[in-house]
Amino acid sequence: MSEETQAGDGQAGSVATAKDTLSVTDNRTGKTYEVDITDGTVRAMDFRQMKVDEDDFGLMTYDPAFTNTASTRSAITYIDGDKGILEYRGYPIEQLAEQSTYLEVAYLLVHGELPTQAQLDQWAHDITIHTFVHENVKEFMGGFRHDAHPMGMLLGSVGALSTFYPDANEIKDPENRAIQTIRLIAKMPTLAAFAYRHTMGMPYVYPDNDLEYPGNFLNMMYKMTELKYEPDPRLERALDILFILHADHEQNCSTNAVRSVGSSQVDPYSAVAAGVAALYGPLHGGANEAVLRMLRRIEVKDRIPGFIEGVKSGDERLMGFGHRVYKNYDPRAKIIKQAADDVFEVTGVNPLLEIALELEKIALEDDYFVSRKLYPNVDFYSGLIYEALGLPVAMFPVMFAIPRTSGWVAQWLELVTDSEQKIARPRQIYTGDRTRDYVAIGSRS
Ligand code: CMC
Repeated sequence: MSEETQAGDGQAGSVATAKDTLSVTDNRTGKTYEVDITDGTVRAMDFRQMKVDEDDFGLMTYDPAFTNTASTRSAITYIDGDKGILEYRGYPIEQLAEQSTYLEVAYLLVHGELPTQAQLDQWAHDITIHTFVHENVKEFMGGFRHDAHPMGMLLGSVGALSTFYPDANEIKDPENRAIQTIRLIAKMPTLAAFAYRHTMGMPYVYPDNDLEYPGNFLNMMYKMTELKYEPDPRLERALDILFILHADHEQNCSTNAVRSVGSSQVDPYSAVAAGVAALYGPLHGGANEAVLRMLRRIEVKDRIPGFIEGVKSGDERLMGFGHRVYKNYDPRAKIIKQAADDVFEVTGVNPLLEIALELEKIALEDDYFVSRKLYPNVDFYSGLIYEALGLPVAMFPVMFAIPRTSGWVAQWLELVTDSEQKIARPRQIYTGDRTRDYVAIGSRS
């Protein structure tokens, strides 16, 4: 776009010489500025030079909910929402879900490369020997009310880990970061399972270091009086796939929370607690819980048309549908559907599956959903699997938080080693009153 054309009439004109810049004319002053374009982005700070006069603060960009703002450079996860592509460190999610394990994927996210066998063995060993939590954590957990939401318990207890590892605030030390990384990935399933057992009024089960990561989690959740818990390998594998699918998703709400809080240079337990808090909400990790509640409320197929009408008139939301980034399909939803079949083979079919399938079929044919590019997301089917595994709905977001921890930590590591990053501090457009005189309470109307 030539500078002259842009300056003259504000229209995109013919391309004279291709240049990676943007010419902007400020019609308040008539001045034209040239702004660099790098990787398809312009720097918001470049707009600050555009001023009406010397006293002017300069132009800001306004982007509530960051819908068109890149907050970081990242080499961890690639998403093409239009094409339905998800890759971790360049590896397609489909290949990872089929051929990898969650622990290997966690290594990949954190270290950037797939491990050699020796590296993987060491990594698995390190994670395994850090699965125990301090006995005081158990007591701390015991202090929660009997009916406490397990996600709230997870949020509190992962934040509390910072008090057990006060040296974790030495975030500039790579060795220190490495040990906290291992601890977080290792202990999250233990905290999650303790939260579950607490809500069930059952004694906590200690980790079994003979078991693999997902098998050990099932052990801590379901072991009763048997001397040795033996997980069903099909359930273990299905769970591992779910963990792989949920491991990272670039700059989503909870990752942004981890990065934003982590940018204050707080310890990683506190930053991850912020991620858990963000994931708790029904528009994020709480969506799978909301899907199950929705399916239960619909209960029978006959009620689906009425429910869809409610969604279209804005009274309801079809939970598990739609995504800020995926406008074609969520590739994770496809893989999860397959994993669901594998789980149902062991547990028997979840009767709500029939409602979900019918709901999906109707929605995918309906112009309301088609025109808005609303497709099933990862949460549409994951809840059905969790329910088949015998989990109460309140545990669903917790199941999301366990694997997302590796993504959060990978993103946190990237943040703290990125020289371009500073404390996250957005600007605002102030809309309130200015400079009013204080009114004594007795004189207020
Ligand atoms: N049901 C009905 N209408 C919807 C839905 C839905 N699930 N999602 C979006 N829409 C409509 C929305 O009302 C709007 O319509 P209009 O243009 O007429 O106002 C249009 O589609 C665009 O929606 P939006 O709210 O601007 O989209 P967004 O990018 O801000 O929201 C979302 C994305 C995921 C929050 C949203 O689709 C949603 O609330 N989905 C249901 C909750 C859900 O399943 N969340 C899990 C997301 S995947 C896992 C994760 O990342 O945590």
